Amino acid sequence: MSADYDKCFSPAQVRGLTLRNRLIKAATFEGKTPGGVPGEALTRLHRRMGEGGVALTNIGYCAAESDGRIDDNMMYMHEGVRAPLEHLIREVHATGAAVMGQLGHAGTFTKNPLFKGKSPLGPSRAFSPIGLTVGRAISTAMTSAQIKERVGVFGDAARFMKSVGFDAIEVHFGHGYGISQFISPLTNKRKDAYGGTLHNRMRFPLEVLAAVRAAVGDDFPLFGKISMTDGVPGGVTYEDSLEIATLLERGGLDVIICSGGTSSFNPMLLFRGTNIRDGIMRTQKSPFMKLGVKLAGGMLFKDYPYEELFFLEHSRRIRERVSCGVCYVGGAATGASFETLMREGFDFVQLGRALLFDPDLPKNAAGNPGYVNGCSHCNECAVLIEDPDGIRCVERPDNFV
Ligand SMILES: Cc1cc2nc3c(=O)[nH]c(=O)nc-3n(C[C@H](O)[C@H](O)[C@H](O)COP(=O)(O)O)c2cc1C
Repeated sequence: MSADYDKCFSPAQVRGLTLRNRLIKAATFEGKTPGGVPGEALTRLHRRMGEGGVALTNIGYCAAESDGRIDDNMMYMHEGVRAPLEHLIREVHATGAAVMGQLGHAGTFTKNPLFKGKSPLGPSRAFSPIGLTVGRAISTAMTSAQIKERVGVFGDAARFMKSVGFDAIEVHFGHGYGISQFISPLTNKRKDAYGGTLHNRMRFPLEVLAAVRAAVGDDFPLFGKISMTDGVPGGVTYEDSLEIATLLERGGLDVIICSGGTSSFNPMLLFRGTNIRDGIMRTQKSPFMKLGVKLAGGMLFKDYPYEELFFLEHSRRIRERVSCGVCYVGGAATGASFETLMREGFDFVQLGRALLFDPDLPKNAAGNPGYVNGCSHCNECAVLIEDPDGIRCVERPDNFV
């Protein structure tokens, strides 16, 4: 076994937090927060991840505010979820794992009928495909006061997360969600200091990062997930992402997670494998959405066959550019991949589908460089995001029961 392979299973430090190895659960919105409340099923899933040996589990979608949710079955950071979150965190800590939450905002993606009468806020007035499902297809451009308010909302949410016991926060700067709607020239058409050049488009993300850092203090680990490209002409490019990473490092981020794609324009870029278009058609309840997928599905849901380490080439460039921590995500599912990533200088590896298939992956791969995960990348887990029971691996439905 090589020193690189050993490194993957050796402890690491991030701003004073000791992680028992380099394997981190990727944010996979679990969908186990009915009515916005974390249920026992969410605790079970994350406790199981801890039992399997992951160093840091990660709760997908901790919205910064109520309107930052896509719908009311997602949770947002407020006192109403303190007790269940404290319980979940205690249960995971008992397994020796740490807990991170992915702090994000839906921006123009919000479709919650609870927010009725309101048009979703974004950087610019624009067509909002998801808003179409509830008849509010046009988003409203935030005023400067509303931008300032959103920055404050992120700070408050981060302070709350630290107070309930999260060990780290992952700020979601990618995938077309609220913050990345500012970064992308496709969605940010502002003419003021928050729009135009990449530096201007990074103003809101950097203000959010500063507010989050101020709220949690200097001894608290902050991760940030970026889209290295929107994967759409006219959007953020791989070249831009080098500058984005540099700015976030300067802004005080400890670890940059290198993803890609956007949920609205090019979702398959971030998953790869079987296209989720047919699955969405099968399960989608909204007739508007069904029609939208039928009409535009071919353009939106492009085919990207699964490859191991599908973001390696571009993540490597970010690794070479910044000196803060860099976490790889995207098709890491074998011992050989973990070894490659450690040899290439990545500090951490995030695992999405591979852990849903085999939550014992860290235990099974430790001391076993020949480990091969059996996930088939059917992506049914992603189709289940809006299922009342939340996500699960359809090949191993008993994993989190
Ligand atoms: C079911 C499911 C839900 C996901 N939800 C999120 C999410 O809430 N936030 C996020 O940043 N990425 C999300 N992703 C993307 C993953 O974090 C990860 O970037 C992607 O699956 C590629 O990693 P993998 O090949 O290890 O699965 C999700 C992926 C899956 C499969």
